[in-house]
Amino acid sequence: MKLSESNALCCRLVWFALLVSILLAETALSIRFPDRISQVPIDPPKQPLKSAVFALGSFWRSEAVFGCLDGVVRTTVGYAGGSKANPEYRSLGDHAESVQIEYDPKLVNFRQLLEVFWSSHDSRQVFGQGPDVGSQYRSIIFTNGSEESRLAAVSKEREQTKSKSSIVTTQIQQLGTFYPAEPEHQKFELKRNPFLLQLIGNLPEVELESSSLAAKLNSYSAELCPTKIQKQIDAKIDNIIKKGWPILREL
Ligand SMILES: *[C@@H]1O[C@H](CO)[C@@H](O)[C@H](O)[C@H]1NC(C)=O
Repeated sequence: MKLSESNALCCRLVWFALLVSILLAETALSIRFPDRISQVPIDPPKQPLKSAVFALGSFWRSEAVFGCLDGVVRTTVGYAGGSKANPEYRSLGDHAESVQIEYDPKLVNFRQLLEVFWSSHDSRQVFGQGPDVGSQYRSIIFTNGSEESRLAAVSKEREQTKSKSSIVTTQIQQLGTFYPAEPEHQKFELKRNPFLLQLIGNLPEVELESSSLAAKLNSYSAELCPTKIQKQIDAKIDNIIKKGWPILREL
């Protein structure tokens, strides 16, 4: 091999090595600094919803008690507190009629839900609520974790001290399985009001069950929203009626 030839080969090898190292470096760089940063979501991930379950008499009414609260995203009626597998309305076994509340913990907390729970039924009535008689209407706070159990116990004690002449019957139970009830029991108060159903565009059942708007209007229909909100919704509905028929999409 002539000297010039071996120089040329050497140069080619050097170039090749350089090229490889540049390519490798690029790969390494692109791993460390992805060039698609703009596609990474800027908003922090939404805080997951929390869920609470209460039993306080007929679940038709219970669902309406919580549906209008700020921060409540979804309500579902169902069966909880017993041992029967797959309970149904006509054979719910040892379960209690219950409501599951999915809420945004930044807007409302378990303690506030407890306050609404206590102020929305008679926790001293034995074996029922109002005219609804039977253990399926018993009063229960379901808890998940020691902090919720503590808050529930404290609130029950406070409730008991309000009057010693009768016993607060409310039970505090660790939440087991919550069995959602049949569709016809979901948003029952709203379904009694075909006019309101029409106003929100006759949502299909699945949407009705998961919709915050339906949860609110379910309360409104039962006149269980706070007076101020009840009036705001009245005004909004009046306005829609006056203007024609845009569908009510939010409150
Ligand atoms: C209890 O709370 C934890 C944490 O918030 C949650 O992951 C879990 O699903 C809850 N359990 C029930 C039965 O709701």
